[in-house]
Order: sequence, then structure tokens, then C-alpha cells
Amino acid sequence: MPATNQTIPAHVPPERVVDFDFLHVVKGDADPFLTLKRLHDGPDIFWTPHNKGHWVATRGEDIRRILSDHQTFSSRVIFLPAMERPRIIPAEIDPPHHAAYRALIQPFFYPNAIASWADEARQLATSLIDDFHAKGECEFIADFALQLPIIIFMKMCDLPLAHREMLLDWVGPIFRPQGETDIQEARARFNAYLVDVIAARRAHPGSDLLSKTLAGTVEGRPLNDMEALSITNSLVLGGLDTVASSMGWMALFLAEHPAHRRQLIDDPKLIPNAVEELLRRFSIPTIARIVAKDVTFNGVALKEGDPVLMSACMHGMDERSFDNPLEVDFRRADARKHSVFSQGIHRCPGSTLALAEFKIFLEEWLRRIPDFGIKPGAKVKTGSGIVHSVLSLPLAWTPVA
Ligand code: HEM
Repeated sequence: MPATNQTIPAHVPPERVVDFDFLHVVKGDADPFLTLKRLHDGPDIFWTPHNKGHWVATRGEDIRRILSDHQTFSSRVIFLPAMERPRIIPAEIDPPHHAAYRALIQPFFYPNAIASWADEARQLATSLIDDFHAKGECEFIADFALQLPIIIFMKMCDLPLAHREMLLDWVGPIFRPQGETDIQEARARFNAYLVDVIAARRAHPGSDLLSKTLAGTVEGRPLNDMEALSITNSLVLGGLDTVASSMGWMALFLAEHPAHRRQLIDDPKLIPNAVEELLRRFSIPTIARIVAKDVTFNGVALKEGDPVLMSACMHGMDERSFDNPLEVDFRRADARKHSVFSQGIHRCPGSTLALAEFKIFLEEWLRRIPDFGIKPGAKVKTGSGIVHSVLSLPLAWTPVA
């Protein structure tokens, strides 16, 4: 979308305007994180006329404060550019109603509920590796990252595994759109699919995550059709793309850093902190808040209704929040103070599942394929937008007989 003066409101001082389009952070396969890091050279908070006009908060402590303060910063739109669409439940619901929706899904992500899936996830990880181990190469994204977390999530929801590719085709444009029509078409198809799933679950409820969520009540009444669609949408969108995207960045880093791999192989107890550290350094999501009341924030006048965008990686890479933030240090004591799962009341409930899957991935992969690298001559493809992703990662290793 072209930037125009109309998207610079009168209360925005000219020195706070930066020409920044978060949907087109990089051209080609440049590193989106290092490109975003350069924004730290400018104002801590600035206005961009792109994508209908919005603020961008670039510093870790500001991002943490904004995400934690739901009274000043509403969640009523968390994905920019804002467009006519129903709110995502629970992510775009503010208090007092948020808690009731959140309570519907939270129990499925308690650590004991997630632990019940760990054996299946580990078996799946080993069998996926078995499929390509002897070949000495794989395309990590298609052969592993878009398999392990997605198959587990589809099993949790009892969705037919044959629908995996179709769902991924819709989720891609939603998180990494090339244009507004692109997102709207993908959303329309995705919603039509979910409406059918909801009708089937209501007619014949099972014991899966979606059936149990749809059978729940909010504030003493069943979910209406709009709420059912929205909450299902939120769960499926949350579960399908994000874990795979983060896994891609983890594998890319390890493929290029043999000493870090060796550290985890020699001391697997470091893996949980290594997961947090890799999430911090390569934080994938970009989310927004809407200013709920006029406020002066760090000396800048924000007006009710102004959107504020935050890229979680800008927190993870902020030298005011982390020492040597671009360095990956698996022993970093405060690695988990990142914003990859957000902060405050909307903090990602699926983080327990995601963390368990990352741990299983690193343990099983490094046990079977300790030495690997990017396939010589092959090209790594990345994409950025609402979620930064590795789209293609050809890996190679010496096959063991
Ligand atoms: C690396 C993986 C993941 C990342 C980076 C991630 C990131 C996030 C972020 C940033 C938010 C908060 C949005 C906000 O504050 O406005 C969020 C919320 C949410 N996530 Fe995740 N997520 C991940 C995995 C998952 C998984 C696996 C699921 C479900 C299976 C899930 C389901 C949800 C739901 C339902 C919410 C809304 C919570 C609320 O509003 O109370 N996420 N996630």
C-alpha cells in the first residue's frame, strides 16, 4: 500500500515519522532480524504512514510495558493493517470478557496435559528423521518443521492429516501476506473450512481439543457461532505455523554454528535454555495494540485509536535489555525474558506445547544427526511479515551406514 500524508495524523511530530513497511521488511532473502535491528538507530517509538499508519515501539522495555498494560493498550486489533473482520477470540478480547474465553482453552495447555503428548511427539520426530537419515539430506522445512508440530496439533484437534497441506496453503498468506486480497481470500477459505469442522464437532463431539473447547461455556452460556468460529480460528492459526517457523530459524542457526551444536551434544541439559535463547535471538511474531485512551508515553503523545506495532525480535535484540544481544549464548541467565510469547494476560497459552516440541526436536535431531550443514550450493529461502519464517532450508550431512 502506498504511504500517503493522510496516514500521518496531526499529533505526530515530523521527527517521529519513519518510512517503514513491516510487511516488506526485506527484499529477497536478506536477514529480517538484522534489518529490523537497524531501527534501534532511530527513535524508540516512531510513526510510519505505511499499512494505514501506525506507531512502532522498538525497545524491549517499552514493548514489555505496552504488552503488559491492557488498560492503556487494547488488544482489539492485534494484526495490522486493521481491516473489517470479526475479532479473534481470545487474542482480541480485552478484560473483563477475556478471562472467560481464556479459561476455556487454558487447561488443554497445562504442563501435565502437554506431557501426555510428549511420547507421541518423540516417536514422530524419530520416524520423520528415519525417513531421510540414510539419504544424508532433507529439506528441513517441508520434511520436518512443517510435519512434527503440525501433525501433533492436528492430532490434538482430531483433524484429518490429509488436510495438512491445504491448511498450510491458507495459513501462509495470512501470516506472510503479499497484499490485502491475498489475506482476505485465504481467511475466507480457512473460515469456510472451520465452519464445517465446527458443525461436525457439535453434531458428534469427541474428546479432542476442538470438541472440548466448543462444548465449553462462557459466562454461563454456550458459545455462539461467531465465537465458536473465532476461537477455533485462533487455536488452529496459533498451532499451525508458529512452531514450524521458529524451528526453521533454530535449524538454520545450528546448521551454521558447529560449536553451538557440539555444546548441546556434550551437555544436553543445556537444551531447555538453548531453546529460550534461540527464541530470544530469532523472535518471529509481530503484534499490535490499539491505544485505549490518550496517553503520553516516553514523552510522545499517543491518541486513543492509534495502532502500535511491536516486533518481538526488537525486544530480543535490544542491547538495553540483553548484553551482546546478537550473540547466541546457551548459558545466558536471562534468555527467557524475551517477548516471543508476548507478555501480560494474553501471553501465549500454547507456549508449553511449543517449548516441549522444540526440546524434543533438538534432543532427537542432535542425537541422530550431530553434524549437518546447509546443502552445498543450495539456497535458503526466508520470508517475513506478521511472522518471520524460513521457507526452505536444504540440509546435508554424511550418512551413517
Ligand atoms: C513458537 C510458537 C508460538 C509463538 C511464537 C506464539 C506467539 C504468540 C503470541 C505473541 C501471542 C500473544 C498475542 C498478543 O499478545 O496479542 C500468542 C497468543 C496465543 N497463542 Fe501462541 N504462539 C506459539 C505457539 C502457539 C501454539 C502451539 C498454540 C496452540 C496450539 C498457540 C495458541 C495461542 C492462543 C490461543 C493465543 C491467544 C491467547 C490469549 O489471547 O489469551 N500458540 N501466541
